[in-house]
Order: sequence, then C-alpha cells, then structure tokens
Amino acid sequence: MACLTFCYVFLLVNVIPSVQAGRDAGFGVGNVTIREDASVGSTVKHLRDFLNVGGGLMEEENGTSWSVNITSGNDLGRFEVVVENLTLIVAAPLDYEYNPRYNLSLELKNTGDNSVWHVNLAIVITDVWGYPPYYSKQCETPVIPDTGTAENYVVLSSHNGHYNVKINNGKEAQYNDFFPYFRHKSRYAIINDCYFRWCFALTIMWNDLDALRPALEAPQNGGRIEFKCHDKELRSVGKFMFLDVSKQMLPEWAQDSRCSMTEGVNYVVVVEMNDLRSTSSYWTQCSANVTFHDNTYPVDFIFQYDITGCSEGRYGLYCDKYCVCKNGARCHGFNGACECRPGWRGRACDIPWPEVVIIASPGDSVVKYIGTNLTLTCLAPHIQVASMTWIHEAENYYNDTKIIKEALGAVQNSSINFQPVSESDNAGYTCVVKAVNGEVINAIFTLNATKCRPNYHGEGCSQVCDCEYGGTCDRWEGCLCPPGRRGDRCQHECAPGTFGRDCRLRCYCENNALCDPVNGSCICAEGQSGEFCQNSSSPEKNQVVVVVLSSVIPTIVLIACIITGVLVKRSRRRQRAEQPTADLEMTPFIENLSSWEIDKEDIHLEHMIGEGEFGHVVRARLRVPEGYQVLVAAKSIRPDRMTASAVRDFRREMDILARIHEDKEGHPNVVKFYGVLTKSDPQYILVEYAANEELRRYLWGLREQYRVTGQRKLLERLGFACDVACGLAELARLKIVHRDIAARNVVISDRMVAKIADFGLSRDVYASSAYKRTNQGGEEELLPLKWMAVESLRDGVYTCESDVWSYGVLLWEIASFGEEPRYAGSPMHPDVCTLLELLKKGVRLRQPENCPLPVYRIIRSCWIVDPSKRPTPEVLLQKIEQLRPPRHAAHLVNHGMTWQ
Ligand SMILES: *[C@@H]1O[C@H](CO)[C@@H](O)[C@H](O)[C@H]1NC(C)=O
Ligand SMILES: *[C@@H]1O[C@H](CO)[C@@H](O)[C@H](O)[C@H]1NC(C)=O
Ligand SMILES: *[C@@H]1O[C@H](CO)[C@@H](O)[C@H](O)[C@H]1NC(C)=O
Ligand SMILES: *[C@@H]1O[C@H](CO)[C@@H](O)[C@H](O)[C@H]1NC(C)=O
Ligand SMILES: *[C@@H]1O[C@H](CO)[C@@H](O)[C@H](O)[C@H]1NC(C)=O
Ligand SMILES: *[C@@H]1O[C@H](CO)[C@@H](O)[C@H](O)[C@H]1NC(C)=O
Ligand SMILES: *[C@@H]1O[C@H](CO)[C@@H](O)[C@H](O)[C@H]1NC(C)=O
Ligand SMILES: *[C@@H]1O[C@H](CO)[C@@H](O)[C@H](O)[C@H]1NC(C)=O
Repeated sequence: MACLTFCYVFLLVNVIPSVQAGRDAGFGVGNVTIREDASVGSTVKHLRDFLNVGGGLMEEENGTSWSVNITSGNDLGRFEVVVENLTLIVAAPLDYEYNPRYNLSLELKNTGDNSVWHVNLAIVITDVWGYPPYYSKQCETPVIPDTGTAENYVVLSSHNGHYNVKINNGKEAQYNDFFPYFRHKSRYAIINDCYFRWCFALTIMWNDLDALRPALEAPQNGGRIEFKCHDKELRSVGKFMFLDVSKQMLPEWAQDSRCSMTEGVNYVVVVEMNDLRSTSSYWTQCSANVTFHDNTYPVDFIFQYDITGCSEGRYGLYCDKYCVCKNGARCHGFNGACECRPGWRGRACDIPWPEVVIIASPGDSVVKYIGTNLTLTCLAPHIQVASMTWIHEAENYYNDTKIIKEALGAVQNSSINFQPVSESDNAGYTCVVKAVNGEVINAIFTLNATKCRPNYHGEGCSQVCDCEYGGTCDRWEGCLCPPGRRGDRCQHECAPGTFGRDCRLRCYCENNALCDPVNGSCICAEGQSGEFCQNSSSPEKNQVVVVVLSSVIPTIVLIACIITGVLVKRSRRRQRAEQPTADLEMTPFIENLSSWEIDKEDIHLEHMIGEGEFGHVVRARLRVPEGYQVLVAAKSIRPDRMTASAVRDFRREMDILARIHEDKEGHPNVVKFYGVLTKSDPQYILVEYAANEELRRYLWGLREQYRVTGQRKLLERLGFACDVACGLAELARLKIVHRDIAARNVVISDRMVAKIADFGLSRDVYASSAYKRTNQGGEEELLPLKWMAVESLRDGVYTCESDVWSYGVLLWEIASFGEEPRYAGSPMHPDVCTLLELLKKGVRLRQPENCPLPVYRIIRSCWIVDPSKRPTPEVLLQKIEQLRPPRHAAHLVNHGMTWQ
C-alpha cells in the first residue's frame, strides 16, 4: 500500500512537465524506525532520498541551495535538519515512554527555482531494554567542583590509589590501583544502576599481577581464578576473575566487546560488582584459594573504594561522558540517568509536564520522624493556577476533613510547616490545585510518623538516648540494655545479686558468692564450689550451709488444704461471718490418727536437713512392718516457735496427709506419708525422703545443659508437668486445696517422677524471695503472691481452681527452666495491690523464650479470671499429653515443636 502511494505520487510528479516557481514540486511519504537511545546528532533520514526518487528528475543542480522547514509534528524539537547535506538528525534525546511516534511534515524549498517539496515522514521509536538509565539513589555519586582536570577523574577508585594483596595470610603488599592505568586503553565498562561490569585484556600478565600467572597456567585451575568479594559484614558484593581466554569463555555481557581483545591476547581480568553504594568510601575483600604448583594458599585482595564522583555535566567510569540532563535535573555519575525536577519528564528532563507535586523537606529520608521539623511544599509547574488549597484529612472515627490553607491567584507554590512533627499530625495532606481553565488536579502526601529519629525517645521524641555498651534506643523505654547492664544509658553494671537483661533476674548463688551480671553464673570465692557455690570447704561455715541448703534436697510433704473445696483462711483479717469458712479451730479433726502412729522404737533420727521459721526437718530411718528400713524426712515444730497457729497448721498437715493416704498407698505424684509420732516430744510427721532435688533446682540444671548442648529436654519437662497435673487431679478428687503449688514444692524422686510436696512450716528457709510478708489486718503471714490466683489475692479465697492458677505459674516455671516469675513493668517482688492492679489490667507472665506456643496457650488458660472457666487438672493432663509424642517416636515434630 505504501509503495503504491509512493509510486503514484511520483507518477504525478512525472506527469507535471513544467515546474512553476513557488509551486509544489512534489510530495514524498516515508517512514523510518529509530531506537530510543539514538544519540543526539545521529542521522534519522537523508532527505535527498525523497528528491532523488522518480528517475532522477529532480536532481540537484550545482549552485542550488535549500531551505527546509519542519512544519508540524516536531513536538519539543526532537528533530532538526542539517541543510548542507539535507539530513534529518536527532536534536534532543528521545524517550519511548513519552512519545513512541512522530509524524513530521517537512517543506523543502529550492532557493534556485523556488519549487517546494512536501515530505511526510513517520518516525517510529523503538523501546530499548534498560533505557533510559535508572537513577538509583542508593549509589548516587557526589558532584565535584570542576577544576579543569576532569579528564583525570575516575568515578570509582581505590583509596589513596592503592589496593592491598595478602598471600597465605602473610603481610599485606600494596599495589597501584589499576583503574586509572586503563583509562586510555578504552576497555569495556558498564555501570548501570548500581552494578559495575568491567574487563580488560592483557597480552601478558601485567606487572603486579604477574605473581598469579603460574596459578593461571597450572592445569588444575583450568585457566580460571575466581575471587569472591564481601564487605565487612561478610555480605557478598561481587567477584572478580582472571581468565585464560584460550581455555575459558568470557561472561556473556563481555562477549560483544571481547574486552577489547587483540591478536595475541591471553588473559582477561573480569570485574563484577553488584552493590555499589553512595558511601564515600567502602571496603571490600576478595578472596580465593589459589593453587600454585602443588600448594594451595589463600589469597586476599583488599580494596577500599572511594566513590569520588565526576564534575558537573560528566559521568561514566572515567567521567568521560556528557550528561544530557536539563532544567536543573541531577545527573547520575555512574550511568548519566537524570533525576528530574518537578514539572519535567523524559530521558533528559526536557519534556514539560504539567503536574501538582508535594515536596517534603528535608527530603533525604522516606521515613518522617516524630520530633523533627518538616515542611511540605505544593508546586504546580506548567499549570496556570487559579487557586491552591491544602486539605487535612485525618482518618479517624469522625473522618476529620478541613481546609488548612488556601491561596488564590497565580500562586506557584504553597507550604505548610510542622515544627516539629507530632504523632497527632499523622493524616493525609492534599494539595488541590484549580487551574484557570477549570481543571482540578490533586496531590496527596500521607504523613505517617510513628518513630523517633535514631537516638531519640519519649512521647514527643525530644529526649536523647545516647545508650552505651551496645544498648538500643526504644521509643518508650529509652535505652534497652544488653544483659548485665542497666541505667538510663546502660552506664551501670547490674547490682550485686542480679543479672540478665535490665538486671531483672536474681542470682541463685549461695554463700554470698557473686554472680556474673550477664549470665548469672556464680563466681565462687576460694573454698567454694558447685554451680551455686553451695559447697564450702570451710569447716565453720559448713554447719550452716548444710542446714540451709539441704532442706531443698529431701522432701517433706505437708499439705495445706480444705475440705469441700471451700477455702481456708489462714489470716484472720476477714470477718468470719463473711464466708461459710471451715476455719481450723472449728474443724474437728475427724481423722483418727492412731492408725498412723509409729512406734518410737522404729525410728532412728539422723541429722537435721532443714530448718524454717516454724519447723525442723530431720533425716531419719524408719523400720517398716515389712522388716526393712526406709529413709524418711521427719518434720517437727521448732520448740521456740510453739505457737497456737503453728500447732494448728501442724495438725492440719497430719490430717490431710492421712486423708490422702486413706488407702495407705497414697498417690504416685504426691509425696508418700509414712506416719506420725504424736506421743513423743517433739511430735513428728514422717514422709518420703526424696533422693533428688526439688523441681526448681532440677530445672536450673537443665537450663545449664541447654546452654551447653542446646538440648531443650522439652519432653522430660512436660513429663514433670503431667506428673504434677496428675497429683493435682488426685487432690481435687479428695477436695483438698494445696494453696502453694509451685516448682519449689515439687520434688523429683529417684525414679524421676515429680511429686507434689509442701515444705509448709519450713518454706521460708530457702524461698524468702518467693514469699511476701503481708501484715494487713494484723497477723503477719508469708504468702506466695506471684503464684496466687487473682481471687486468692483479693478475697483470700483458695479453691481447687486457684490451685490450677498456681499450676499455670508452675508450668511457666517449667517452660522457663525455673526462672523467677516476673511481671513486665513491676518490681521483682510486688506487693498485693500492685500485683492485683496488674492482673486486673490483664497483665500476665510473658511467654518464656523458646516456649512453644501450644504450651503457652495452656499456661494462659490457667490464668483466666473467672475460676470456673479454668481447665480442670484432668483437662490439663489431657492437653499436655496431646503435646507429647506417642511412645517410641524419636523425632516428632508436633504442634510446631521439635522434641529433644
Ligand atoms: C512503514 O514501513 C513499513 C515497512 O517498511 C510498513 O509496513 C508500514 O506500513 C509503514 N508505515 C507507514 C506509516 O508508512
Ligand atoms: C556540478 O559541479 C561539478 C563540479 O563542481 C561538476 O563536475 C558537475 O558536472 C556539475 N553538474 C552540473 C549538472 O552542472
Ligand atoms: C551532514 O552534515 C552534518 C553537519 O555537517 C554532519 O554531522 C553529518 O554527519 C552529515 N551527514 C551525512 C550523512 O553526511
Ligand atoms: C520556513 O519558515 C520561515 C519562518 O518560519 C519562513 O521565513 C520560511 O520562508 C519558511 N521556509 C519554507 C521553505 O517554508
Ligand atoms: C579456602 O579454604 C579454606 C579451607 O578449606 C576454607 O575455609 C575457605 O573458605 C576457602 N576460602 C575461599 C575463599 O574459598
Ligand atoms: C471514614 O472514612 C473511611 C474510609 O474512607 C470509611 O470507611 C468510614 O466509613 C468513614 N467513617 C465515617 C464516620 O464517615
Ligand atoms: C524547628 O523549628 C523550630 C521553630 O522554627 C526551631 O526553633 C528549631 O530549631 C527547629 N528544629 C530543628 C531541628 O531544625
Ligand atoms: C504507618 O506506618 C506503620 C509502620 O511504620 C504501618 O504499620 C501503618 O500501616 C502505616 N499507616 C498508614 C496509614 O500508612
């Protein structure tokens, strides 16, 4: 079709015999395709082609000159005609995205005979991959002052002009940077975005690199040595290679240029860096194991690059290319990409673009911070403005929209200021521009400042953190200190006796031994040993230490309890009339204890193993009816503490133990009861002697193992949890309330079975940190506040359900390897009011580290405020059993847990 038109036109021309002055001489139609990356000045079309068609009729005569006008279609002057040789050339950078096609109409006037030619030319722009170049902020380069020596610059060069090489970890040797060396050898370089590709060819290995030649020639290396490059954080940043081109292929990107190889070239150095940065100086180490002859040595190249930048208007590795950026656009030093100012678009930012834009200043960061000054400026370049209005749109429950600033007339900009930004400023800010022609154009800026700028904290982000010792700055907390540190700026070490993050943990060291503030390990003084420095070789101290510590090892059962699941109130601070209490004075000791009476002859007391405020515990041997002896713990009231309430508690323990052991066998998860000595003075309660330590200390041991071996022993720990749940179910069945379920009151038997015990009167011996004295209402009393249910704290009510709450705390202790429970935002030992306040607010102990979520869910279910909604011990048992793998399943991953 095009051809037909063409022929037809020239046929016409042919037919007109005489050409009149100023008259149409002919008409040409053509089309041409051109790449969008065609450089300015490159030829689009020789216009003479149009004149010569048609059998040479219109051949140019000597002396003829032409005047040429592009009469339409040349938007923004992308093209122009060179009259001397009648050539249409590119006059300004093209950009497929902004105009993929131009329909030019041209008039060519022959000044000799005044004949005029008309030519219509369709110019189709083709899209070129990777063009126009992308302006990457990440590797933006500085613009350096033009000192007239721009030719000497390299946009990327080794620091001080050197790089270092280290062979076999020996001394670093210094060599001259090779970039400048190749400046005039026109080697091949691509710098795009923040990638850098470069290679150069060598006929022989070049001076400094000659040392590598034997390795490159060694057959086992196959003509290739590759160095992998990383930065100081060991992130990979690229590589470089030495290649023997007779044995190795060039990388694909280098094949076009062949790295400027000439005849006789043997070696090529190929550099591929993937992550250039704007930082003015950065360090890279490139390493390889290189085999020379038969030995392999590590070889390291250490570069420190300076991103030096080019002078104004130049870009490229050697700053040898000219920027095309117009209208104040910034030119990227690596690839010449232009960063357009508002109102301009296109490859060269020379296409006017009517738009409304909001500019934030300072604009160096995408994130806007609370507490910093911010100015938003609305601009409307290339628009004839009638009005400019700022609207504030807060998205909250009443969708608050209001005009905050309005400017009428031909304003070009309008600004709003935040001095400083506060969180309540967060909203959408819309700039509405009404043009003279009635058109309305909007731009919106969403302010979402949620953070303080680095190193600031506080509500208004006005306080400086300046954390020391690696502390991190938190908006609300200020400095978060690393383990072992505390203070506003982490300037203090943990106080003696505390350790860990924010010094929240208490040390477990005995004998006044110091503990490591970071990890809590005990630092024993001379003569002390053991994990907690519990062993001391000093004979004088020995006595005391044994008494204090050994109380932990054996076991005594003592169960505080109450019949029918109603409560017992230990303190008298409430009016009896308030509750239907079965208070102790009124509880008849219905049990006939005579069947539990032990013959004094059958018991042989050994040494004291525990002493408390109210009682003594002695290890003893008991001859049982079967004829052999068993070890028992014999508990008595301290003669100097023989108060009425102590006697009452003592009697109650006997009673409850007897009730649990009605069938003499007792329960496997409750410490076994052997009998009482009531006819002696003092009186004794005899219970099973637990060979192993109490659960809490056992957990500390597991924690130590975990730290060393990484073994979590979750299975074993859940086993203990099951044991205790089982024992608790038994107590519930007997309608016995324990009131002090906690890891310290659970012992591990020699068969590794956990049993509920209660040190009752001697609890204060070793658990002074866990019990809090209360003296409300007069009577002083020690209560395990952090284990107590909310209703026990508030009303003094103890039920089987409140035991389930305590069981939840015990599970938490198991999950956290015996950590001391601590509520976030409260002291280590809060008082009743503080604790109640926290619990009412819904605060609970946090999920321990490495505690699987299903376990924590079970823990949390124990801490439901409504007692009736808490799981029963049976349900707990069932849930925990579900988490345990079936027998013999060695590696089971279940509920997101790995079993170790
Ligand atoms: C341009 O030329 C191509 C082939 O040379 C043809 O297919 C196309 O139709 C032409 N377009 C115009 C506008 O003449
Ligand atoms: C034009 O001039 C050249 C030399 O300048 C000459 O060789 C040629 O014959 C002339 N052509 C005509 C058509 O006069
Ligand atoms: C036409 O002339 C211009 C300017 O003198 C020159 O740059 C261009 O290369 C010439 N084109 C041809 C095809 O000779
Ligand atoms: C081209 O345009 C200029 C002014 O725009 C005019 O003076 C000149 O005569 C025109 N030439 C042709 C060939 O149309
Ligand atoms: C060199 O070899 C050593 C030992 O085999 C290895 O640890 C190291 O990662 C190797 N280095 C490189 C850069 O491959
Ligand atoms: C507020 O705006 C949101 C989103 O535009 C909309 O979903 C919501 O219904 C609006 N609320 C009121 C009260 O208009
Ligand atoms: C913010 O603006 C206020 C008021 O103009 C000025 O006093 C203060 O110094 C500014 N703050 C900063 C960080 O520039
Ligand atoms: C604000 O930023 C926060 C995170 O910084 C993000 O979670 C939230 O969705 C953002 N809100 C809006 C409205 O963009």
